[in-house]
Amino acid sequence: MRTLKVNLKENSYDIKIEKGILKSLGKEVKEVFNGEKIFIITDENVDKYYGTLAKNSLEEEGFKVEKLVLKPGEETKSFETMPKIYDRLLDFKLTRKDLIITLGGGVIGDIGGFSAASFLRSVPFIQVPTSLLAQVDSSVGGKVGVDLPRGKNLVGAFYQPKKVIIDPLVLETLEDRFFRDGMAEVIKYGFIRSKDLYLKLLKLDSKEKLMENIEDIIYECCDIKRTIVERDEKDLGERMVLNFGHTLGHAIEKYYGFNKYTHGEGVAIGMYNIAKLSEEKGLVSENYKDLIKEILIQNGLPFNVSIDEKEEIIEAISLDKKNMGSTLKVIIMKSLGNAEVYDTTIDFFR
Ligand code: GLY
Repeated sequence: MRTLKVNLKENSYDIKIEKGILKSLGKEVKEVFNGEKIFIITDENVDKYYGTLAKNSLEEEGFKVEKLVLKPGEETKSFETMPKIYDRLLDFKLTRKDLIITLGGGVIGDIGGFSAASFLRSVPFIQVPTSLLAQVDSSVGGKVGVDLPRGKNLVGAFYQPKKVIIDPLVLETLEDRFFRDGMAEVIKYGFIRSKDLYLKLLKLDSKEKLMENIEDIIYECCDIKRTIVERDEKDLGERMVLNFGHTLGHAIEKYYGFNKYTHGEGVAIGMYNIAKLSEEKGLVSENYKDLIKEILIQNGLPFNVSIDEKEEIIEAISLDKKNMGSTLKVIIMKSLGNAEVYDTTIDFFR
């Protein structure tokens, strides 16, 4: 078992990582919550495998539990889903002394966390991430929110959970494509902050080998994210390095209607292409694009797309909420394991 503490003064919390920990969910929750009612938000895919296990474990500890099972997929993370969640919370008569648990991937963590942040002006919540992407990234750091028809993550909050409970064993039931999706974010941590992690990942050239080391890998990623979030919780400076490859990645995901590439695949393409552009523009003294390509291929991730409609991708970048000012911030890997924020304009991509 590995534990990390995210130090954010009165909003500090533990991240616990342990294979099989889901079976003891009730006990884990009891360590930080002594109220009566718990409302679980999950999706159909996760509920099928883990919904009953989670509910039973909580009920064994004496909690009164209700579960809302949403449809899987990004469409659920819409502002329009919110009234449905609030209705169910009202039916259950959840109060500010009770608790919400998000049991799922990034979509469930984000929309469930935003429900917790906004219902009755905030109810405590615990993240139980079940995808690799959510375990290494989205469940840590308190970013919660929903999409609007005009773009992703346009409404949300910084709202920290009371605890993050990570069971790497649940990754056994995650589709391979979504395991690879999470690996793009894992690889990202190596590039932005840890050459050692990158070198370790190079040696783990199969899912079996990765799974043998998964507790440590998740721990290392969460530790990097924890350090960054502690220094820049509100994403005004250093936290932006977590977006290495994301500006281009988001634009590519959006351009293809969010159904051709997963988030991680978009990020993989973004990381490679940013490295290529940085090299072409003479912004880095050493070139890393081949190194990025090698590890992406090893993990079954794409690195390049033939972008005929380049202008439309650039338009998608300029519509991203992060790029609405006259300057554009891109993340550049200055050396292996060290990324920095670079102020530029949209012309960087031309
Ligand atoms: N996923 C990027 C962040 O939490 O800042």
